[in-house]
Amino acid sequence: MRSPFILVIFGATGDLTHRKLMPALYRLVRDRAIEPPFFTVGVGRRHLTRDQFAELMVKAVRDTVGSDFSASVWKKILDGLEYQQGLFEDAPLYGGVRGLIGNFDHMAGACIPRFFYLATPPAHYEAILTNLKNSGLSEGCMPKDASARVKKSGNRASRVFIEKPFGSDLATAHHLEALLSAVFDEHQIYRIDHYLGKETVQNILAFRFGNGIFEPTWNRDFVDHVQVTLAEEGGIGTRGAFYDGVGALRDVVQNHVLQMVSLIAMERPRAFDAASIRNARVSAMEDIDCIDPRFVSQLVVRGQYEGYLREPGVAAGSRTETFAAMRFAIGNERWRGVPFYIRTGKMLANRVTEISLHYKKPVVCYGKLCLFNEENVYRNVLSLRIQPEEGISLRFMVKEPGLGMLSLTRKEMTMNYRDAFPEKTSHDAYERLFLDGIRGDQTLFARTDEIEASWQFVTKILDGWKRYRPPLYPYRKGTWGPHAAGKRIAKDGRQWFLV
Ligand code: BG6
Repeated sequence: MRSPFILVIFGATGDLTHRKLMPALYRLVRDRAIEPPFFTVGVGRRHLTRDQFAELMVKAVRDTVGSDFSASVWKKILDGLEYQQGLFEDAPLYGGVRGLIGNFDHMAGACIPRFFYLATPPAHYEAILTNLKNSGLSEGCMPKDASARVKKSGNRASRVFIEKPFGSDLATAHHLEALLSAVFDEHQIYRIDHYLGKETVQNILAFRFGNGIFEPTWNRDFVDHVQVTLAEEGGIGTRGAFYDGVGALRDVVQNHVLQMVSLIAMERPRAFDAASIRNARVSAMEDIDCIDPRFVSQLVVRGQYEGYLREPGVAAGSRTETFAAMRFAIGNERWRGVPFYIRTGKMLANRVTEISLHYKKPVVCYGKLCLFNEENVYRNVLSLRIQPEEGISLRFMVKEPGLGMLSLTRKEMTMNYRDAFPEKTSHDAYERLFLDGIRGDQTLFARTDEIEASWQFVTKILDGWKRYRPPLYPYRKGTWGPHAAGKRIAKDGRQWFLV
């Protein structure tokens, strides 16, 4: 894509820029998805020269791409790379950024669209957004007096990319949204939930709506229940200070897990465009029945891995959950009566993210007359594996070969992406999101009403925890979380699929 832009990264010496943003930019340039001229301004608090900053960035890229590193590809980024030091709350910083942007405009001979990426801890969002507005930088190439109509149609307007967490409950999310909307219009705001950029997450829609046999059964007439597991083998690493103030519910349920639920639960979008897909996602999210705080103790299990309190950055006696599992319902025509079970945690037995639809069992007995031994008949399960080993599998019953009595056994049909498409390289979620953001496609970004609906749900659980203080179950590292989570689902006569 040859369409000049200026990317201003706030938090350019931080972890996200190092691990994700710079490597994503590099790969997009390597794959010629992005072509010069484009410019990158790193903004950070550390005192660095432009060359020292460039050294850090090339290291970030090398750390990720390893021996695939190409100096000629890196040069395309380096030629347009600058660094601006300063404190995010200080106005002179923005004057400095303005100066650099002015130089780039001059080099390109035009006013180039500006994209502001907030890769900082959320505590800095308010200062950055306010200063972007006060300095006029958020106006981008649009004249200050441009009418709303011109603004909306102008592709030269600036954009802002913002990372989760979008607040820490409904009230703080509202505050952030108010700040954002005071500076940018919704069409300029790109809220990043990197799960939406994952290939298999997108494939959920292709699979559902591109296959005649699945969509007709994707409802309460056929589906007994749905499970979503986002399990991590790793702990909190060096993020203790951040994570301890957040916990599993806010860290991944409010965003990644509920995004997956809404893609599974949504109705058919009118078209494959941003507005239709986002509308469908939002409606599904809004249809999720909030759990009444009084019933949170019964429907939600929270846990903390043993040893968490010894992690660096974690407060003494912290009651932050590193595991959460729950059951909820979606009260619309399609899903009424179908329980959704979701589960996430750190330090679990495996790193796996999977969505599974568990179909109702067939009727094998009429009174005492049975076709098969009912006990040997299991549900059909359709699993959509997001990571690792992305793929799709279907469990079904078959006859066990042999001359004896007819007996059934479970088997799986599996499609693994890597085997099925060996020649295709899969792209990191950030590459996809970056490119879409630069192109101006908002489909895979969260919209304000989506954020609102997910916080409505999560805040009720937080209220229940605060008011009724249900147990925080300890669990051993390398297990599937507290026993209580297994007992909870067993009460309904079901079990977790991945164990
Ligand atoms: C992030 C969370 O949003 O998602 C992390 O803050 C979590 O705590 C991560 O580890 C999981 O993402 P992925 O892509 O590794 O599954």
